[in-house]
Formats: sequence, structure tokens, C-alpha cells
Amino acid sequence: MMKYAIRYYTKSNHTKQLADCIAEVLDIEALDITHPLVEDVEVLFFGSSVYGNSVDPEVRDYIFAIDVNVSRMVCFGTAGVMESSYDEVRSLADLKDIPVDEREFHCKGEFVSMNRGKPDESDLDELRSFVRNVM
Ligand SMILES: Cc1cc2nc3c(=O)[nH]c(=O)nc-3n(C[C@H](O)[C@H](O)[C@H](O)COP(=O)(O)O)c2cc1C
Repeated sequence: MMKYAIRYYTKSNHTKQLADCIAEVLDIEALDITHPLVEDVEVLFFGSSVYGNSVDPEVRDYIFAIDVNVSRMVCFGTAGVMESSYDEVRSLADLKDIPVDEREFHCKGEFVSMNRGKPDESDLDELRSFVRNVM
């Protein structure tokens, strides 16, 4: 069983920045969701952001297609203005009986002229502490 895995979806690399930061802390590779999980995993760090008030359909498809055992999913992501995609991801994971950690990491992501430079270094610092807490 893999102890940790990181998967993410991104359109403009904000979620990738978070995923790569988690990867550094865990010393594993962060992969996008073109990479299926190939073995059971203890903690899946799962990154997704908000587009048109929802996750991208590819994120939905990815969760539905998970066919290994995931003991716990930890969500992370960004959004321009919305809270986060946590609730939506959690309902999708529920359908697959994948337990989702109550704790999530969310920060703002640059969107049109809002949140310039986000996520930024202070977001990544917070993320590093978050990861150490949930791992
Ligand atoms: C096509 C598109 C639609 C978006 N729709 C929303 C939205 O409905 N609500 C919101 O809060 N942010 C919205 N955003 C902003 C993104 O959530 C934000 O830029 C996020 O950081 C993108 O992450 P990514 O670079 O990992 O894809 C949208 C961004 C794009 C590109």
C-alpha cells in the first residue's frame, strides 16, 4: 500500500503550485489526474479548484473511476471568490465510500484582476504546516 499520493486538476497551475508544495513536504511526486491510482493508498491529497461554481467534469470522472482503496482523502484547492470545492468533492467521494478528512486547505487563486499573485509564499507556508498536521 502507498502511504501517500497526490493528485490534482488545474487549469492555470494554481492548484499545481499547491500540489508541488505538498510533494516537497512528503517527498513524493504530485501527479495530475491523467494518472490513475494504481495501488491502495492511506492518504490521498486531492487538489481541485472552482470553475463556473463547480469542479471540472474531469474531476468528477476521476473520483468515480477510483478503483483502489483510499483510507482517507485530504482536499486542497483554490478559487477566485468561492469558498472551495470541498463540499462537492466530499459528496462525490461519499458515493465511493471514500472517507474525507474534515480538514481542508483552501486559499484564493488569481482570477481576472482579483487575488493578484495568489497563491503566494504565505499561502504555501500555511500549506506546509497544514500538511504536517494532517499527515
Ligand atoms: C474558466 C474559469 C472559471 C472560473 N469560475 C470560477 C467560479 O465560478 N468561482 C470562483 O470562485 N472562481 C472561479 N474561477 C477562478 C479559479 O477558481 C481560480 O483562478 C483558481 O485559482 C484556478 O485554479 P487552477 O489554476 O488550479 O485551475 C474560474 C477560473 C476559470 C479559468
